[in-house]
Amino acid sequence: MKQKLWRSGFLLVTLALFGMIFWVAPAMADSGKCIKCHQRHTPGQVADWKVSKHAGEDVGCADCHGEKHTNSKNANLALMPDEHVCKECHEEQFESFSKGKHNFGWTSLNALPITHVEPDELMEGGRGCGGCHNMGIKTEAQKKEQLDKGYRYQTNSCDECHTRHSFSKKEALDPKACQQCHMGYDHPQWEMWSSSKHGTRWRTKKDGNLPEGAVAPTCQDCHLPDGTHNNHTAWGFLGVRLPLPADKQWAADQVVILKALGVLDPNTGKPTARLDAVKAVDLARLTAEAWQTERDKMIKTCSKCHSESYGKKQLEMGDAMMQKADRLMAQAIEIVAGLYKDGLLKKRNSQAFAYPDFLYFMRTDYSAASGDSYKKLPNGMSSIEQTLFQMYMKHRMRTYQGQFHVNPDYAYWYGWAMMVEDLGKIQHEAEVMRAIHK
Ligand code: HEC
Ligand code: HEC
Ligand code: HEC
Ligand code: HEC
Ligand code: HEC
Ligand code: HEC
Ligand code: HEC
Ligand code: HEC
Repeated sequence: MKQKLWRSGFLLVTLALFGMIFWVAPAMADSGKCIKCHQRHTPGQVADWKVSKHAGEDVGCADCHGEKHTNSKNANLALMPDEHVCKECHEEQFESFSKGKHNFGWTSLNALPITHVEPDELMEGGRGCGGCHNMGIKTEAQKKEQLDKGYRYQTNSCDECHTRHSFSKKEALDPKACQQCHMGYDHPQWEMWSSSKHGTRWRTKKDGNLPEGAVAPTCQDCHLPDGTHNNHTAWGFLGVRLPLPADKQWAADQVVILKALGVLDPNTGKPTARLDAVKAVDLARLTAEAWQTERDKMIKTCSKCHSESYGKKQLEMGDAMMQKADRLMAQAIEIVAGLYKDGLLKKRNSQAFAYPDFLYFMRTDYSAASGDSYKKLPNGMSSIEQTLFQMYMKHRMRTYQGQFHVNPDYAYWYGWAMMVEDLGKIQHEAEVMRAIHK
């Protein structure tokens, strides 16, 4: 009894303290003046903020932007709140996000050489690479680099799914919150999901043509279940892993792909410095356990609606498709590598090896140190290498992404069939090049 009383007393004190924090913290700053003036200058933002949960909880403009900017002349004093500002009240989501793959978006973008020779507007301005890779808590050095270039926006990742200033949970639970970034050339998950049975069912339900209780999985159900902000998959984007697969041919094909990614030295097969960069941004699962943990989580998710063996089998088919795609891919890489070996393609300044390099994208000449190489005519990539790059970046991705996202057309016509076509073109073009060379 005594213990029970002590316990309930403790609970009361805790509740009271918690309540105080809740009461006092949000209303620290006075936003009355901000709202009054911004009602005239940016009425849309004020209206949007008014419908947010924040408005009802007295979390106002000044709580996020500070109180230093007070009039129309000193707007530069307004603070652009980074994720740490959100953390003050949403520690759980901040911590979870920090462990996830999204937290590597900005860093992995900046790890690629191409980022530093393309126009800044395609990195910092919310369009191009940076429009999607503006994900991840920036370091002080990264923020300084942005400020030095004259940009002071894009400092917050939390507003990518629940956008400012309504900051709505419901919006973030809608798959459309993922659409802007998970679409298009090399990762058309939006197109694949929305035209799969999973996605069409979700939309049919939205239209009221399925009963309210009918099930239809969203991106969030499979990738951010139960409120987590930590997103990882087994294969990741590049579709490579360590240790290599047990099947000998598949392992050999993955080695060829790793060489074309510049992670293994094409001559010695030994790891290069790029492997460290890959490790640093968590580009691939590097242990069997890390891969299996993600796979097991996904099977558990499928099992909410399908039998466990069904889900497991479906995912194994995704792996098998990747294995078969890798066979085509490795053959194509080796044809192009043969052209380097026989001197028909020449190593350019920017290349470490006389071997295809996928992380150079469509551009080839990085000899300009940084910044303004776009002023010069890009030293065009050979036609055969462009086909090879497209085969990897566009068609191999679609083959297995389409399989995993249960999309018949992407897996076949936009994926596998295109890879077969690419390989045919590469074979033909290599023959022509060799014939001319003779
Ligand atoms: C007397 C009018 C006035 C008051 C008061 C005011 N603002 Fe502003 N604020 C402006 C105007 C005008 C701009 C746009 C300036 C521009 O476009 O360069 C602006 C811009 C901003 C910006 C964007 C800055 C940028 O670099 O784009 C933020 C954030 C902001 N205000 C927040 C606040 C907050 C928070 C308060 C209260 C602490 C506040 N404002 C009070 C007029 C006001
Ligand atoms: C001063 C405290 C405070 C700060 C700072 C703060 N929030 Fe909140 N936030 C709250 C409170 C309080 C709620 C309402 C809690 C609830 O309804 O459970 C809330 C709710 C939310 C919700 C859920 C809304 C919904 O529809 O249920 C989201 C999303 C959110 N905040 C995002 C953010 C982001 C992003 C930032 C940083 C840009 C941020 N918050 C900064 C206090 C804060
Ligand atoms: C602002 C753009 C953006 C939005 C919005 C976005 N993502 Fe991402 N997402 C990215 C980027 C960029 C990466 C790659 C991160 C990196 O570079 O490591 C990524 C990676 C992922 C991955 C990890 C894949 C892997 O490598 O294992 C998953 C899963 C994912 N996102 C799911 C989602 C879901 C679900 C949503 C919507 C709720 C969403 N994303 C919204 C940009 C975005
Ligand atoms: C439309 C949005 C978008 C654009 C534009 C974009 N990316 Fe991405 N990027 C993503 C998403 C989403 C992923 C994760 C895809 C997946 O896992 O299937 C990703 C993955 C990556 C990865 C691998 C990250 C990892 O660890 O898995 C790198 C590196 C990368 N992008 C670099 C770039 C560069 C460089 C550019 C510009 C030349 C660019 N991206 C343009 C959205 C984008
Ligand atoms: C919960 C935090 C939060 C609150 C409350 C908040 N903002 Fe913001 N605001 C943000 C974030 C995050 C950004 C984006 C920062 C960046 O670009 O990195 C932003 C950006 C802005 C910008 C510049 C970008 C643009 O789209 O014009 C203005 C202006 C602005 N806010 C005005 C206001 C006003 C006015 C209020 C009050 C009615 C307000 N904010 C309340 C978080 C908040
Ligand atoms: C990739 C998309 C995405 C990003 C980025 C994102 N969130 Fe969320 N957030 C979600 C989703 C989805 C939910 C709904 C979770 C649920 O209830 O299942 C959510 C819910 C929330 C909630 C409401 C929690 C509740 O249950 O009331 C808060 C608060 C929140 N997020 C804060 C943040 C903060 C802070 C950040 C940045 C560190 C952030 N989010 C970044 C997708 C995202
Ligand atoms: C029914 C569950 C399910 C749904 C719904 C779903 N995914 Fe996936 N997703 C998967 C599976 C399974 C994988 C592959 C996991 C692995 O590597 O084993 C995957 C992989 C990914 C990846 C990593 C690269 C790749 O293989 O594509 C990203 C990014 C991603 N999904 C984003 C999304 C987005 C965005 C949506 C919504 C438009 C979505 N997913 C809908 C199950 C789902
Ligand atoms: C929230 C429930 C739900 C989840 C989770 C879910 N599915 Fe489904 N799935 C469905 C429904 C409903 C259908 C449509 C059934 C039909 O075709 O009759 C479906 C259809 C499919 C189909 C097409 C079957 C056919 O006959 O055309 C495949 C394949 C599939 N799901 C695989 C998966 C995989 C793999 C996962 C996990 C990564 C998964 N599903 C997760 C509900 C779900």
